Amino acid sequence: MTARRVIAVTRRLPAAVEAALATRFDVRRAPDDLPLTPAVYQRFLGEADALLCTVTDRITAEVLAANPLRTRIIANFGVGTDNIDLAAARAHEIVVTNTPDVLTEDTADLAMALILMTMRRAGEGERLVRAGRWTGWRPTHHLGRRVAGSTLAVLGFGRIGQALARRAHHGFGMRVLAWGRTAPDAATLADTGATYVADLEAALAEAQVVSLHLPSTPETRGLLDARRLAVMPTGSFLINTARGDVVDDDALVRALITGHLAGAGLDVYRQEPTVDTRLLGLEQVVLLPHLGSATRETREAMGFRALANIEAFFRGDAAPDRVA
Ligand code: DGY
Repeated sequence: MTARRVIAVTRRLPAAVEAALATRFDVRRAPDDLPLTPAVYQRFLGEADALLCTVTDRITAEVLAANPLRTRIIANFGVGTDNIDLAAARAHEIVVTNTPDVLTEDTADLAMALILMTMRRAGEGERLVRAGRWTGWRPTHHLGRRVAGSTLAVLGFGRIGQALARRAHHGFGMRVLAWGRTAPDAATLADTGATYVADLEAALAEAQVVSLHLPSTPETRGLLDARRLAVMPTGSFLINTARGDVVDDDALVRALITGHLAGAGLDVYRQEPTVDTRLLGLEQVVLLPHLGSATRETREAMGFRALANIEAFFRGDAAPDRVA
């Protein structure tokens, strides 16, 4: 009987996924469900054929310089792979995969939830009730902004951006502008109800709400800086379910404090789990703990997708979600 492949898993996974892994592999895992040190990643890379890690594991060039280095595939539990130095992985001939598609609908739901929460001031309202400070209904109390008929600019028109556009346009009657590197085809625009705008500033200038759906790359980091936030109309809203570093935090805080932006809905942060303390005091900001893909269904599907990539790779087939 041939020895089973060794797989190192950095975090606890849904029970069904852990059970499936255990039937197929010799599984090594860290004792606690906490971020690991570079030394532990290096130990894993030295003893395991595959590493199943998550978007919170920083697999840097230094980590990948592990010696010995046995790992041949890193399956990231997540669609974003900015936590992994892909160039270094390529240099070490390690295949890297991600988990696209399966989290699209849930992440778009959460972006829509943040649009509704910020425009209708639901976070503030909830805190008011919990604090016992609600004095009752009155015509001028806690007024938000109407979602229907307002203009949403979706920056990054990939799977999640398109899924949000569909919800916003067909479900909530929003006018949707799409901005991204490449113009979507006519069928995609018809399906999502979006209008493509090639110029970023032009899209920002027309939007009551801007929602980010871009990966973190050298080109997108700090994309929403002071100058671009200033182009957004006074009283508009920013939603971020993509990556924290796409936004310049100083510029965002300033835009919120001056009232240029009426609110922000954030699910992701530059240095998670740390949240800029200046945001914590701003009532008009909704802060969620990176919940975009956090449904039982999606987290199971992400695990099985990572498993499918590892199995395909060891069968000698192309890993279906290979990114490096
Ligand atoms: C991802 O997959 O990249 C998300 O941020 C985690 O769900």
